Amino acid sequence: MSLVTSKEMFKKAYEGHYAVGAFNVNNMEIIQGIVDAAKQENAPLILQVSAGARKYANPIYLRKLVEAAIEDSGIDICLHLDHGEDFEICKQCVDDGFTSVMIDGSKYPFEENIALTKRVVEYAHSKGVVVEAELGKLAGVEDAVKVNAKDATYTDPDQAKEFVERTGVDSLAIAIGTSHGAYKFKGDPSLDFERLQTIEKLLPNFPLVLHGSSSVPKEFVDLCNKYGGAIPGAAGVPEEMLKRASQMGVCKINIDTDLRLAMTACIRQVLVENPAEFDPRKYLGPGRVAIKDMVAHKMRDVLGCSGKR
Ligand code: G3H
Ligand code: 13P
Ligand code: ZN
Repeated sequence: MSLVTSKEMFKKAYEGHYAVGAFNVNNMEIIQGIVDAAKQENAPLILQVSAGARKYANPIYLRKLVEAAIEDSGIDICLHLDHGEDFEICKQCVDDGFTSVMIDGSKYPFEENIALTKRVVEYAHSKGVVVEAELGKLAGVEDAVKVNAKDATYTDPDQAKEFVERTGVDSLAIAIGTSHGAYKFKGDPSLDFERLQTIEKLLPNFPLVLHGSSSVPKEFVDLCNKYGGAIPGAAGVPEEMLKRASQMGVCKINIDTDLRLAMTACIRQVLVENPAEFDPRKYLGPGRVAIKDMVAHKMRDVLGCSGKR
C-alpha cells in the first residue's frame, strides 16, 4: 500500500456517481480518526494539508504520520496540498512526496491564474503528481485566504472549459455557493446546481471539486454551545445538497470545519463533565472517535464512497 494520486479515484468516482472525501489534517489524532473511518468503510481517501497545517505541525511530521497511517492501516491514501498559494509551496510539496497539489490562483485575473496554474501543472506532471486549480471565488476565511461575501464570484462555465483546456489541470474547484468556515449562509442555504450542470456538460468526464463543504451538524453546534463558548449563527451546506453534487460531476468534497466541530464539541464535553481531568489522552482519544464517527457517516450517507476502495 502506498501514497497514490487521485487519478484513479476520480475516474471511478465520476463513473460511479459518488465523491471522494478530502479531509484536512493537522495532528495525529485527526489523521487516525479519518483513516480509521476509511478503513471501516472501505472508502477511498484524500488527506489534505493546508499552509496553516504545515506551519502548525511542521511539514515532515504530517507526511511521516500519513506514511505511518498507510503502513498501519494497509490502505492507499492520496496526500494533497490544500490551497497552495504560489508555485514555490506547490514545488516544495511535490518534492516532499505529496501525490497531489492545489494551486489556488482564484484571486488573480483569469490570464494570471492560467499562467500560474500552467507552471505548476508542468512541474507537477513531470514528477507524476496531479494538480487541482480553482476558478471563481468562494466567500469565507482560512488562514491564508480571506474573501468577503461581496467579492465572491461564481465560476463562469465557458471560462472553466477554456481554463481546463489551456492549463491541462487534473481537477477544478468551482464556486457555486459554498464557502469556507462555519458561517456559510445567512438565510436559506442554496447552491447553484444549474451552473454545476452547465459546467459538467462543457467538461464531460472531468472531475470537479467542491470546497467549503462542511454541513455544520446541529448536534456539534449544540454540544459546543452547551459546554461553553457559543457559536451563534453557524450554518453549513445541507447534506442532501452535498449528496446531489456527489452524484453529479463533483468527485472531491472538501471537509475541514466539521472535523474541528466534532473534535472540539467532544473535548468540551469531556472536560466540562470531568473538570479534574488533565491527561490529554482522556480527551484527545474521545475526540479521535468523534472524528471517526463523523467521517464514516459522511462517507456512507453523504458522499456515497463507502465500499468503493
Ligand atoms: O480551506 C481551508 C481549510 O479549512 C484549511 O484551513 O488554512 O485554517 O488550515 P486552515
Ligand atoms: P469547510 O470549511 O466547509 O470544511 O471547507 C474546507 C475546505 O474547503 C478545505 O479546502
Ligand atoms: Zn478550500
